[in-house]
Amino acid sequence: MYTQSFSVPDGTEDVKSVGLKAIPKALNAQDADLQAAFDARIDADGRIEPREWMPEAYRKTLVRQISQHAHSEIVGMLPEGNWVSRAPSLKRKTILIAKVQDEAGHGLYLYSAAETLGTSRDQMLDALHTGKAKYSSIFNYPTLNWADVGVVGWLVDGAAIMNQVPLCRCSYGPYARAMVRVCKEESFHQRQGYEALLVMMQGTAEQKAMVQDAVNRWWWKCLAMFGPPDADSPNSAQGMRWGIKRISNDDLRQKFVDATVPQAKVLGVTLPDPDLKWNEARQAHDYGQIDWDEFWATVNGNGPCNKERLGARVKAWNDGAWVREAALAHAQKQQQRQMKEAA
Ligand SMILES: [Fe+2]
Ligand SMILES: [Fe+2]
Repeated sequence: MYTQSFSVPDGTEDVKSVGLKAIPKALNAQDADLQAAFDARIDADGRIEPREWMPEAYRKTLVRQISQHAHSEIVGMLPEGNWVSRAPSLKRKTILIAKVQDEAGHGLYLYSAAETLGTSRDQMLDALHTGKAKYSSIFNYPTLNWADVGVVGWLVDGAAIMNQVPLCRCSYGPYARAMVRVCKEESFHQRQGYEALLVMMQGTAEQKAMVQDAVNRWWWKCLAMFGPPDADSPNSAQGMRWGIKRISNDDLRQKFVDATVPQAKVLGVTLPDPDLKWNEARQAHDYGQIDWDEFWATVNGNGPCNKERLGARVKAWNDGAWVREAALAHAQKQQQRQMKEAA
């Protein structure tokens, strides 16, 4: 997983001024040449690689976006990890463990991609642990029953795929390459969730009701995952110009709605939106109003599980201190031994 457009400002930044404002006003002659070469590469749909010159604002935007993405992957392990010990069968447990483990891997690729931009893992994790860095708002909601695990796979991973497939064509090479593998794994995540729900929908009336209840609770939050409407999304234009973002928040959201409606029909669930209907003229579905106040409240730390999620990450970091210390001591010992042998 997961994105929420990955362009929400982190805690230390001003919501309206991030992005465009960060572009330097005046460049010296050498920088102007480098900037021109960079612009030409972007215009030709080329890739930018770690050691190449890039505008500071481009670097800063990528560090924010890729680190938010990495944080989302590892925080995203928590709502589902919570169900590993309670999965209803060995088969479901195996699938869920594999999925949660994939998310850890996604976090690691993404931290590595962000490190190529000159930021350290410790800096990124410190920003997460002190509450400065954002992660996807979707993980601040609880997974109340087993159907939630299926719905998270179907809808949350489904929304993540919509968002992440265009990132495979992102202008920054390491981010784009990481996304290719991530998207393949997300596809498995989405299918396992959908298949788990299909089985439940062939079960008892109580199981069917559980699925419908989970869909009701997650649907609107998944639509909000695509980020604020284009008109209120200050970073989008610059992200598009730089080839980081390829499709706008509203267009991605529309694609997700149009893809999900027929899947809901096959599954036999109702999507909880009375305004959801096919619009013949637009050849797309109309849908109702998203509660953006709730979205921003959750992004800004006041969702139902924000404190729990952050607390779990900080505890894991503190509990792992002895492992980091032991690994460092071992590496130092090895180094000393090698130096002694070489002397
Ligand atoms: Fe993921
Ligand atoms: Fe996933």
